[in-house]
Amino acid sequence: MDLVIKGGTIITSHSRYKADVYIKDEVIEAIGTDISVPGAEYVDATGKFVLPGAIDAHTHLEFPFNGTTSADDYLAGTRAAACGGVTTVFDFVVQRKGLGIRESVAPRDALCAPKACVDYSFHVALTDLTPEVLDEFADAAAAGLPSYKLFMVYKKDGLMMNDAAIYKALLRSKETGTLVAVHAENPDLIDANIDRFKAEGKLSAWYHYLSRPEDVEAEADIRAIHLAKMTGAPLYIVHLANARGMQAVRDAVNEGYQIYAETCPQYLNFTCDVYKREDGRNFVCSPPIKNQESQDALWRGIKDGYIQTVATDHCPFNQDQKDWGKDDFTKIPNGCMGIENLYPYMLSEANKGRISFEKVIELCAENPAQIFGCTTKGAIEPGKDADIVLYDPTMDFEVTVGNMHSDCDYTIWEGTKLNGYITDTYSRGRLVFKDGQFVGEPGWGHFIKCAPRS
Ligand code: URP
Ligand code: ZN
Ligand code: ZN
Repeated sequence: MDLVIKGGTIITSHSRYKADVYIKDEVIEAIGTDISVPGAEYVDATGKFVLPGAIDAHTHLEFPFNGTTSADDYLAGTRAAACGGVTTVFDFVVQRKGLGIRESVAPRDALCAPKACVDYSFHVALTDLTPEVLDEFADAAAAGLPSYKLFMVYKKDGLMMNDAAIYKALLRSKETGTLVAVHAENPDLIDANIDRFKAEGKLSAWYHYLSRPEDVEAEADIRAIHLAKMTGAPLYIVHLANARGMQAVRDAVNEGYQIYAETCPQYLNFTCDVYKREDGRNFVCSPPIKNQESQDALWRGIKDGYIQTVATDHCPFNQDQKDWGKDDFTKIPNGCMGIENLYPYMLSEANKGRISFEKVIELCAENPAQIFGCTTKGAIEPGKDADIVLYDPTMDFEVTVGNMHSDCDYTIWEGTKLNGYITDTYSRGRLVFKDGQFVGEPGWGHFIKCAPRS
């Protein structure tokens, strides 16, 4: 069915203008004024913003982690995504030791495909960087998988990759047009802090933060940037959360290096004080949410263009899972939710005047599409997939677990008041969210092949 979205204001990273959008066969066919298509369905977007669907470049759906599995499976996670205006989800597949990149992705893709309510792609978290895996970078990229993450942390979980592995991966990424991402924290410092706090009987959620404070993250950021500089390869730092790491990114970019930084809404909205709350364990994620100085540095980084993307690191755990660590922070499964909150929160911050709407489009749609080679996504332009969000800037919204669409039984965003909200989400021209209700279907989402860098 042809569709014409009429009378809204289209926003891009660099412009806003009133126009109609004509959608044909899941793709944006034309943009113009007074578009008329015989037999088409018309949607009145008067007074609304017409935005590209967001790309959440960092999620962990049905993720086996910390002895359990994250609470949102591919269905619930992508349903919540649709309801938050996210039309493409990048999920992390952890490489099974002994298996290759594509071999590790295949079973996850098989799990995701029948459940996905919006389009999806994968980053692969490498855990076993054998010569064969390094050799596979080019073929995996050709198969649409050109981005690899290396954990500098989670040593005891068998996920950590050492500096030599990061160095080798960076060198190979430069040759193959692929992109290496890192989770930057220093595991030895964390373990030393944990040992000390355990010996002192300091086991509340506050000590999760104190065991991984600002400089534990900054040290690893600086080390990873150093390795990237040595190789001349681009580097993507996931979930950057601290001021000194932010400064290191700024310095490296100003020296001409290609360092991309991603942050997450939880780091922009909360401070480490949440860990002192009765429900502090619900906010436990790694890296932990940092202090006000770090939060301020992240917002400055966004405004000055040193943070390229905001993604969620969506990895929710139910209350009973978080309760494992009620009396011992080391037993709390790490991760927070945000897939349904990312775009509404960032757009609300724009509505309140903190940043521009154009900046939000850049951070949540255009930049992730460009950085990860998602060529059919990220913008309202002819030829792009019709992933479109209608946004009412006058609508007030208060987040509560009852109006979210995740399977998780609480939200860290409970009570957050937002200025403006999403009314409609289209995924490749199909309505998947309307006026508070999910109206999509599992299996609608496709795997999106990403292109390597040229
Ligand atoms: O706490 C977090 N972030 N959990 C998910 C895994 C990761 O480190 O990204
Ligand atoms: Zn991480
Ligand atoms: Zn993550």
